[in-house]
Amino acid sequence: MAGKITLTMLKPDAVADGYTGKIIDKIIEAGFKIQALKLTKLSKEKAEEFYAIHKERPFFNDLVTFMTEGPIVAAVLEKENAIEEFRNLIGATNPANAAEGTIRKMFAASIERNAIHGSDSDENAEIEAKFHFTDAERF
Ligand code: RTP
Ligand code: MG
Repeated sequence: MAGKITLTMLKPDAVADGYTGKIIDKIIEAGFKIQALKLTKLSKEKAEEFYAIHKERPFFNDLVTFMTEGPIVAAVLEKENAIEEFRNLIGATNPANAAEGTIRKMFAASIERNAIHGSDSDENAEIEAKFHFTDAERF
């Protein structure tokens, strides 16, 4: 059965460019309920841990540098079939390939600076939600 939550991060580019409100509005309009939300900043160690799955990839160091350059907005979002629905809303990793109307098409500059993260599986959504939030911070 499809899971009900996903973890998102509005990445440092989107927050610095002032798109936080517009992106959160699109997420709510798309029918997601916010279970948890905060402005925070990843340390190098936490960014390396979050993206550990990519540590052998050539873009890993650049990704960690990018994700630690400024504050992010982390959120746990709830909707039926949340993983697939949210990845459809954010669009392809490379905004050049993202569909019209998607968040990355509207707010992302490049495959690296791509404005927003979405979990890729139900299992990772739970791990990532616990990475950013305690149970007491989720509603
Ligand atoms: P995310 O995990 O952030 O939601 O992105 P994604 O699933 O669409 O893409 P993923 O393959 O998991 O890559 C994670 C992030 O690494 C950066 N990246 N750079 N230079 C490159 O070729 C490259 N590929 C990926 C992006 O910031 C991507 O979102
Ligand atoms: Mg990913």
